[in-house]
Amino acid sequence: SGEEQVNTDLITLTRHVLNDQFNLGAAASGDLTLLLTAIQLTSKFIATNVRKARLINLVGLAGDTNVQGEEQKKLDVLSNDIMVNALRASGKTAVLVSEELEDAVIIEDQYKGKYCVVFDPLDGSSNIDAGVNIGTIFGVYQVQEGSKGTVADVLRPGNQMVAAGYTMYGSSANLVLSTGHGVNGYTLDAALGEFILTHPNIRIPPRGKIYSFNEGNSMYFNAPVVRYLESIKYPASGKPYSARYIGSMVADVHRTLLYGGIFGYPEDKKSKKGKLRLLYEAFPMAFLTEQAGGVATTGTGRILDIVPTSIHERCPVFLGSKDDVQDLQKFYQEAN
Ligand code: AHG
Ligand code: MN
Ligand code: MN
Ligand code: MN
Repeated sequence: SGEEQVNTDLITLTRHVLNDQFNLGAAASGDLTLLLTAIQLTSKFIATNVRKARLINLVGLAGDTNVQGEEQKKLDVLSNDIMVNALRASGKTAVLVSEELEDAVIIEDQYKGKYCVVFDPLDGSSNIDAGVNIGTIFGVYQVQEGSKGTVADVLRPGNQMVAAGYTMYGSSANLVLSTGHGVNGYTLDAALGEFILTHPNIRIPPRGKIYSFNEGNSMYFNAPVVRYLESIKYPASGKPYSARYIGSMVADVHRTLLYGGIFGYPEDKKSKKGKLRLLYEAFPMAFLTEQAGGVATTGTGRILDIVPTSIHERCPVFLGSKDDVQDLQKFYQEAN
């Protein structure tokens, strides 16, 4: 029948994470749930502002540049402030690293907790003014044994993160999260103000049909990337791949997780280490990709094994379906 069924047993993000902890027993702590509650709040708050940006004059530049020399948009600055304030107030954080802040924020004793959060408050800045999907990316570490929380606690490989995720602000707000036991997607029910489990156990198909690169940079690309792209556009047999590139990492990775294929932002002759930032772009997305059964590499090595030396460093990124990323890796192996 065409009757609408009301689901009277909604699985909210908080319920789902708590349930995970019941199953894990003593090793788990309610602290992570409280931290994730704070992160959820920031996503709801940012989503609200993204939605009314045009109406309340939040589009355009803030008038400053960040440490990477990018012009900050008003929403970059606002989203950063929302996250710093909420994460500090949660009482669960010790160190914060944001794309928009040159130095790490060391939380005062009064508010100090045991987690470190690295984040890109607003990803896809160049798409804001056109109303195209943008997002927030985050990764969570626990402070090391005996540490009071210093930069050293976040200069650790991504494989030591305890959680990672992103929220994509599109036709709805979608929060995709992993606490190291697979990947789940939640959609914001605006009326309830809750993220509801809508995409349980996301698995990347082992092979896709889509590639997602900024091919406008082709003249700078190195040989392995040029040859790989050639191989999927002019295959010896079968159909060529389709191109999809939004220019918001969150949106391009979200599609890759759901549909499969490969997303890449390579190192090239102009940007020797690529463009994407290791701590708060590459690590969280690599964490999610692996947790969903995919592969995330620099072309020559696993992203999650990189040991960061500074908080804003960059790294080449290729991630997505296992078979597609392995094909790309072969072109790097041949070049060496
Ligand atoms: P941000 O807006 O946080 O600075 O990140 C922009 C990043 C990422 O979202 C995207 O994948 C990439 O920049 C796009 O870069 P190009 O415009 O060079 O393709
Ligand atoms: Mn930026
Ligand atoms: Mn970004
Ligand atoms: Mn950003």
